[in-house]
Amino acid sequence: MHKSVRDILDKKKAGKKISAITAYDYTLASLCDKAEIDILLVGDSAGMVMLGYENTIPVTMDQMILFTEAVCRARQNALVVADMPFMSYQASASDAIANAGRLIKAGADAVKLEGGKTVAPTIRAIVETGIPVMGHIGFQPQTTTLAQGYRVQAKTKDAALILLEDAKLLQDAGVFSIALEMVTFETSKIISESISIPTIGIGSGKDCDGQVLVVHDVLGMYDKLKPKFVKQYLSLADQITKAVTNYRLDVESGRFPAKENWFSMDRSELDRLEKEIGR
Ligand code: KIV
Repeated sequence: MHKSVRDILDKKKAGKKISAITAYDYTLASLCDKAEIDILLVGDSAGMVMLGYENTIPVTMDQMILFTEAVCRARQNALVVADMPFMSYQASASDAIANAGRLIKAGADAVKLEGGKTVAPTIRAIVETGIPVMGHIGFQPQTTTLAQGYRVQAKTKDAALILLEDAKLLQDAGVFSIALEMVTFETSKIISESISIPTIGIGSGKDCDGQVLVVHDVLGMYDKLKPKFVKQYLSLADQITKAVTNYRLDVESGRFPAKENWFSMDRSELDRLEKEIGR
């Protein structure tokens, strides 16, 4: 039986940290799930790391459904949360409910959407249908990049107060947790201590109730962005390029394939074949 929203809430109550990582495809999701991570987040960062977009804005519902289905086929243990892409929840609450429902039908246990005060009524409407929602405030990749570019959030008293208010409004609207992205360490600590649901930080310091990172950053597979808050545990990009270069060199030199990599017919069958074709 995989983890539930209740298990995630219980971790905060028990003072235990929550681990989350993004996942978009079957193979990496299986490996992350085996590592007993609490939450697999099918983030719309898929648009950048899987599809090569400059940002998350072009990501569509159909693409998120495809990624969500792949991750859900792989998971055994984790809770799967799927991101609602840009403009899948902003136009109307009924659009938002319908699109959240599509992600749940694809296998997700919960959805995540960006925004504070302005999206709280939409979140309430989704939660009232029975779909668990994770909020996402602080740096909001779908819109903050349009207005301000990449920037640390809540550096001033006033900005911190707005974020704290947003967190409380989202809690009141019924979210089961809130992702805090690139929020000053002090503000994240205050928010985490002021609400009863877990905060999941990315670039927001150690006092969040949990942490999330993009799996490609953890494994060192995506080198277009290297935020200071990432901890890279492997350098797969270099290793993969080296491995594929070696493969190419082996093909070009004839070292690959070798006898152990191919299939043979019985000698008697070969004799009959050669006779038939006159060789
Ligand atoms: O899409 C994503 O990867 C995310 C994380 C940055 C939290 O939303």
